Amino acid sequence: MSRFYSDTVKNISPYVPGEQPKDRRFIKLNTNENPYPASPSVIEAMRSVTGLEARLYPDPEAAALRRTLADHYGLAMNQVFVGNGSDEVLAMAYPAFFNRTDTIAFPDITYSFYPVYAALYEIPSLVIPLAEDFIIDFKEYPENLKGFLLANPNAPTGIAVTAKTVEALLRQRPNTLLIVDEAYIDFGGESVVSLVPRYDNLLVIQTMSKARSLAGLRVGMAFGAPELIRGLESIRDSFNSYTLDVVAQRAAKAAYEDVAYFEKTRQAIMATRERTVAALEALGMHVCPSSANFVFCTLPGVAGVLVQQYLRDNGVLVRRFAMERIKDWLRITVGLDEEMDEVIRLLQLFVQQKG
Ligand SMILES: Cc1ncc(COP(=O)(O)O)c(C=O)c1O
Repeated sequence: MSRFYSDTVKNISPYVPGEQPKDRRFIKLNTNENPYPASPSVIEAMRSVTGLEARLYPDPEAAALRRTLADHYGLAMNQVFVGNGSDEVLAMAYPAFFNRTDTIAFPDITYSFYPVYAALYEIPSLVIPLAEDFIIDFKEYPENLKGFLLANPNAPTGIAVTAKTVEALLRQRPNTLLIVDEAYIDFGGESVVSLVPRYDNLLVIQTMSKARSLAGLRVGMAFGAPELIRGLESIRDSFNSYTLDVVAQRAAKAAYEDVAYFEKTRQAIMATRERTVAALEALGMHVCPSSANFVFCTLPGVAGVLVQQYLRDNGVLVRRFAMERIKDWLRITVGLDEEMDEVIRLLQLFVQQKG
């Protein structure tokens, strides 16, 4: 503790990212990265950046990338915002739309960065428990909320709600800003990006870290009414106008243009997921219905920490959250087929040894 610390630093509990090991090789299924490399056209795009371009500041508007995204989703450019990962986009959305007298609601079990930002900006949060089966009970959310953060599919459960459900919320609560975090939407969920032109209380946040294999480049985006996008831009330009570097802008554009690669890899991940879920269930595990690139599962009667440690000892990293309600659950990223075969083999051995 330094005597120079602000009260902010003294009081925050920062988000703890999943481990990025350097000491040994693991089958790394702990941070929901894509097991497939970025598209070859992404690599080509990165290589195309010249020394002269690197000399200059990048386009603060990221116009070429935003044009591609707008065309892809049938939106106008002023309905598109990009940032340095969707974490940064979220970090800008809080101060853009909420005061210290407002309330932002989200479930108890969801992306663990949401409460961290709320605490950082001192925006009161209302944390509503998920139902027993980890389903969101929307009736539990008061009508007069200023903001509602919905990860769809939810993390770490992988459970999705339908676009119809989201649209009903938008209609019922015109004075609530609904922020839908679609980080995992391309693995089987229903996106609500197409609703952006019709609802000024909707902000959709997406990322290129998952379905487009670009976690290392940090590219996230938001889609919303032009006034919402301008709010985000005001915060960005009061903080750092050049959040996306020239390489990331070019690569992200190429990633969106290579639709065939995106389709092939996401379909492969979904197929691997379905096979994995069936195998885990055959072992007696409970598995949440997943529309994401991970599965959330538990072995009844066995402490999650034991299973996690056993997998780690055998070279597999998975994620577990200490929170009481889910401490015995593991979130396992869907990797390559052979990686999942190894996880299943290890868990089979574990179950046999227990039994
Ligand atoms: C629900 C959810 N939202 C947002 C993010 C942040 O993604 P990124 O900052 O890589 O775009 C993650 C990352 O794991 C996530 O799980």
